[in-house]
Amino acid sequence: MAYTVPKLTDYSPLALDAAVLELRRALHEEADAIIQQSKSTAFDVVKKGQLFEAFRNRWQARKNGILTQVNDLWLKAAPREAKADVGKRVNEVRARIETIVADTEQVAVVLRGQSSVNALAQSRVDITLPGIRRSLGAEHPVIKTMNEIVGVFRNLGYSVEIGPEIETDYYNFEALNFPPNHPARDTQDTLFIAGQESKPLRDRLLLRTHTSPVQIRTMQKMKPPVRVVCPGKVHRNDAPDATHSPIFHQVEGLAVDTNITFCDLKGTLDHAMKALFGSSVKTRFYPSFFPFTEPSADVQISCIFCGGKGTRDGGPCRNCKASGWIELLGCGMVDPNVYGFVDYDPAKISGFAFGMGVERIAILKYGVDDIQLFFNGDVRFLEQFA
Ligand code: PHE
Repeated sequence: MAYTVPKLTDYSPLALDAAVLELRRALHEEADAIIQQSKSTAFDVVKKGQLFEAFRNRWQARKNGILTQVNDLWLKAAPREAKADVGKRVNEVRARIETIVADTEQVAVVLRGQSSVNALAQSRVDITLPGIRRSLGAEHPVIKTMNEIVGVFRNLGYSVEIGPEIETDYYNFEALNFPPNHPARDTQDTLFIAGQESKPLRDRLLLRTHTSPVQIRTMQKMKPPVRVVCPGKVHRNDAPDATHSPIFHQVEGLAVDTNITFCDLKGTLDHAMKALFGSSVKTRFYPSFFPFTEPSADVQISCIFCGGKGTRDGGPCRNCKASGWIELLGCGMVDPNVYGFVDYDPAKISGFAFGMGVERIAILKYGVDDIQLFFNGDVRFLEQFA
């Protein structure tokens, strides 16, 4: 009697094992029969091919093949608590059927004495079928935004410099005019590398908290005029939430030459913000403090959601807290003390620097409401930027 897939009533492991065993026995018997028929002289080559196809269909046909029935009668019908157990066995059964059918085909083809040309003809490829598409990767929205920012400054004649993510205390702080123990260091929530206590403070390693150390590295290796942007990853000891991430990206800018003034800084950043957010955006410079710039400013742009009005849809604009302005980046004229660390003569030259957070800009540009989305790796989010 030919094997038929039984309905299950008992889902105990013992009963499941017995059902699987019975199926496997039938599978092996039928595979053996195909092998015997392939050797037999009672059938011609065409008939032998048909017998094998019938065997394959009986076990693997999508519509009502034994494997399909096993899925329907065993897995779908299983009570909830038995699903995992049955599922495991159904997977084993599937693998077993796939192997045995494939092995049987190989042996049967050889035994029925077809030349390899025939074997190839049997398994020929239908070139009219659509091919298997490999999905293409796409630029990550943070990298895309970073490249866009860098592009704006490249168009102004800036070149690109990069620096290490593991920095020394000297480059991240001291040469940027943060004296040892100065409270301004506290604002940086630094992640220090452990076990550095035996080294002098300036050589101790940390994860850079900003891209500003690349200013120092650049000025050490080139003389003015300097116009560089420095994109890269930075780290801070911040707990992740909708607006914070312990890893994020910045683009630093530095321009040093003769006669560089605060007007140049304002014009440059005003142009950059218009290039990034649209020509109707306005900028405003607000007094601030950074140890390595003097004077220092925070740059605000007119709110891109309410057009700077502070109200939207008849209520206060939530994006700018009804102020009409959004704070975006830090900047200032390079503090003369910094030139002392790199052998530039502050009597002859002057310059400005700025630093902006890339995720912050991407969030505003694309209307993203949670910074974590950039780091979760969910393709459904990321592919929207492709
Ligand atoms: N490095 C500063 C920060 O991360 C930003 C900044 C860069 C400010 C350059 C002024 C000049 O907060």
